[in-house]
Amino acid sequence: MPTYRAPRGTRDLLPDDRAVFDRLMRLAADLAHRYGYRPIETPLFEQAAVFERGIGEVTDVVEKELFRIAPRSEEAESWALRPEPTAGIVRAYVQHGMQTWPQPVKLTTTGPMFRYDRPQAGRYRQFWQFDVEAIGDAGPAIDAEIIELGYRFYMEAGVEGVEVLVNSIGDPACRPAYVAQLTEYYRGHADRLPPTERDRLERNVLRLLDSKDPAMAELNAAAPRITDRLCEACAAHFESVKAHLAGVGLAFRVEPALVRGLDYYTRTAFEFYVAGREGQQQALGGGGRYDGLVALLGGKPTPGIGFGLGLDRVALVLAEQGHVAPPEVAPLAVVVGADPDDTVTRFRVATTLRAARLRVRADLARRKLGRQLEAAGKDGAHFAVIIGDELAAGDVQVRDLQAGTQRTVPLDDLARELARAEASHHHG
Ligand code: HAM
Repeated sequence: MPTYRAPRGTRDLLPDDRAVFDRLMRLAADLAHRYGYRPIETPLFEQAAVFERGIGEVTDVVEKELFRIAPRSEEAESWALRPEPTAGIVRAYVQHGMQTWPQPVKLTTTGPMFRYDRPQAGRYRQFWQFDVEAIGDAGPAIDAEIIELGYRFYMEAGVEGVEVLVNSIGDPACRPAYVAQLTEYYRGHADRLPPTERDRLERNVLRLLDSKDPAMAELNAAAPRITDRLCEACAAHFESVKAHLAGVGLAFRVEPALVRGLDYYTRTAFEFYVAGREGQQQALGGGGRYDGLVALLGGKPTPGIGFGLGLDRVALVLAEQGHVAPPEVAPLAVVVGADPDDTVTRFRVATTLRAARLRVRADLARRKLGRQLEAAGKDGAHFAVIIGDELAAGDVQVRDLQAGTQRTVPLDDLARELARAEASHHHG
């Protein structure tokens, strides 16, 4: 056992893992750009109050999972690592007066989030999200556009069997009455509630609906449904979201028990799952509308909607579905030499080629030419630049490792020749 290990619930992304993430992050950036979202970075930590107020005190994320940073004794503030990016982005929207920008302000970020959760497959204490937020548009068309964007991410990433679950969880006009009704319903069956759920009943009753406890299944199936109790405005909004989804032919399922784990949501809520993996209760991504959040964090009332897609889970599913990491890109050339000790020349020649923007490795180990060439072959390099006696005349040998041919090239022409070979290789 090594003395030091990565903290529990975190992972090292080794180069093959990182290559998969890199592909997902490029896709995220490309899609966000295509849909008109501009990148933003907010700090990885914020005043804890941003999350406590924004996400809600009585949520698992804040109550149990917040990574709090102990402040130095002379500082009064208390910070926490971000468990999600929405609260921080909305804090930035308010702080920088973005309500004076053309609305909606469409922002995207991709990066690590931190939740002190019980680690298991697909659930980490540091995980990555691709996030988009559209602030300043009350919808409902943009709700559908965002859901479609999320779905397209999975499609273009190559994930098979993605299901779109949508719901409306109402707004301050209709939710309180529903919450009261739901509380009454569960109180009437208090004897059948597992202890953790009984505890939640008085504090955040909506969470009971998506309880993972099998003992709850029957009770939940018969529970009153928010979708039957939406006020007129929320019902019309939801109908329109569905009509817009249908308008682009996006298949979805209305899931009345979908309530999301963060308190800021109003109206539209959605999640993405992979068919056949529901048993793990692990969403690939999710999001929704948060029309009260900007005001909650001190701005003037402004609607918003967004999503967060879990890249770790996407990578897991892709691996399960048989996708392999993109192969490592081989160097165009490796600079090798007959004199094992002359690393200065190999270094110098490779430096010149890299300055000419070519992907070139120098063999800097002091080993025999045969071993250097063998390593170049294993690298999958196209060419070996061999430095030998011809160097005195200003020449090197260039061996095409794939064709097995070799010829003499003046050092002065080397970069140009290799660049030409690379171009014809790519385009020919
Ligand atoms: P969330 O549902 O808490 O929403 O997280 C979004 C996604 O992040 C999840 O569906 C999952 O794929 C991934 N995720 C969450 N926790 C973990 C974990 N411990 N390990 C691995 N992956 C995880 C939000 O975070 C909202 N900010 C989404 C949003 C944006 N709503 C509006 N705008």
